[in-house]
Amino acid sequence: MDKLQIHGGIALDGEIRISGAKNATLPILAGCLLADGPVTVGNVPHLQDVTTMIELLGGMGVSVTIDEKMRIEVDARTIKEYFAPYQLVKTMRASILVLGPLIARFGQADVSLPGGCAIGARPVNIHVAGLQAMGADIHIENGYIKARAGRLRGAKLVLETVTVTGTENLMMAATLADGQTVLENAAREPEVVDLANFLITLGAKITGAGTDRIVIEGVERLHGGSYDVLPDRIETGTYLVAGAITSGRVRVKNTRPDHVDAVLGKLREAGATVTTGDTWIEVDMRGRRPQSVDIRTAPYPAFPTDMQAQMAALNTIANGVGTIIETIFENRFMHMLEMRRMGAEIRLEGNTAIIKGVERLTAAPVMATDLRASASLVLAALVAEGKTDIERIYHIDRGYEAIEEKLQQLGARIRRTPG
Ligand code: EPU
Repeated sequence: MDKLQIHGGIALDGEIRISGAKNATLPILAGCLLADGPVTVGNVPHLQDVTTMIELLGGMGVSVTIDEKMRIEVDARTIKEYFAPYQLVKTMRASILVLGPLIARFGQADVSLPGGCAIGARPVNIHVAGLQAMGADIHIENGYIKARAGRLRGAKLVLETVTVTGTENLMMAATLADGQTVLENAAREPEVVDLANFLITLGAKITGAGTDRIVIEGVERLHGGSYDVLPDRIETGTYLVAGAITSGRVRVKNTRPDHVDAVLGKLREAGATVTTGDTWIEVDMRGRRPQSVDIRTAPYPAFPTDMQAQMAALNTIANGVGTIIETIFENRFMHMLEMRRMGAEIRLEGNTAIIKGVERLTAAPVMATDLRASASLVLAALVAEGKTDIERIYHIDRGYEAIEEKLQQLGARIRRTPG
């Protein structure tokens, strides 16, 4: 298995381009199942999770073609099976996003039930209950969610917990339902809004995306179309923290500053000079050591759980004590244990991590356990003294396009070694 090898201690300085958002691309590709004509999706990031989604669609008989610019054309009219196998779902939980579209458009879906996950239990009960309320007959058999339905009926759904993919699945299903669906306590993440905008270009009638009340008027059919995915706000935040943690300067372009307000607020609190334009952000921490910050993760627009590990890395070398409270996932602190091996002073109490900043981290072999945890280990390695080897980096390749090239562009000494 490949490793990343990083020589720490260089203040990053430079500019990089942000890729399309993984967590918008995945629901949008699943949403292509709803259209009865070809759909072209642009600004797609080159990532393992995107490849998995393409494999999933291809395995059902959906025609998927990719051009050299990573524009993907999906035509669901060739579908033969309505099936998401365990082999793929176990590698990517977001495969569950095909459930809503399949049942709404084709009246049947057999989707493997995702199992446990490295960051928490992550049940899908809200997805299932919502579809049942819309008239689907669903039961679990042999580890699969088996769903059957005639045309779904619009329903008023109050989501028990704010769930991103749950909101997306139900919003997609509702586009073709008979009548109106109201999603209360809906997720407000930018990726939900991007999916809604995508579905609207195909003819869906959706209002309120970006608020906690989304209203969908079902239509008879969705047509083909073309759409470009929004920039990745988590990749954006990760590179900005890379600038701050190395006391450097990083400018990211092709991004959406309005989607990272909570992260920029924390970077300012940490002492960085943050400047923004329409599509770029610059973080400048040159000549300074960051100050510790307190973080509490919560659904958008509050501080994202997907940036928690990266901010924890910043706190490990900051001046002062920072408290991190993780409210979304119950087991998302694995990176803390690895960062301790690099000399970080971290105390864990349930869902709270208390991090006392140290003057320096030292390189150590570390293990990536999930996507964002791996990103935080890369960040810690960028400041650690010596050469850090990060193992199991397939986690990083799921969500960060060309991470070593981008970091090299900023001056980092990083390379991938086959293991
Ligand atoms: N939950 C339930 N029941 C459900 C669904 C969710 O109890 O039916 C709970 C979860 O267990 C969790 C909370 O609700 O405690 C929120 O989870 P959510 O459903 O919002 O997470 P998700 O949709 O599975 C997406 C992202 C994650 C991101 C979370 C939170 C995608 C493909 N994934 O997951 O991204 O952390 O929202 O923002 O959009 C990542 O990119 O590294 C990643 C893990």
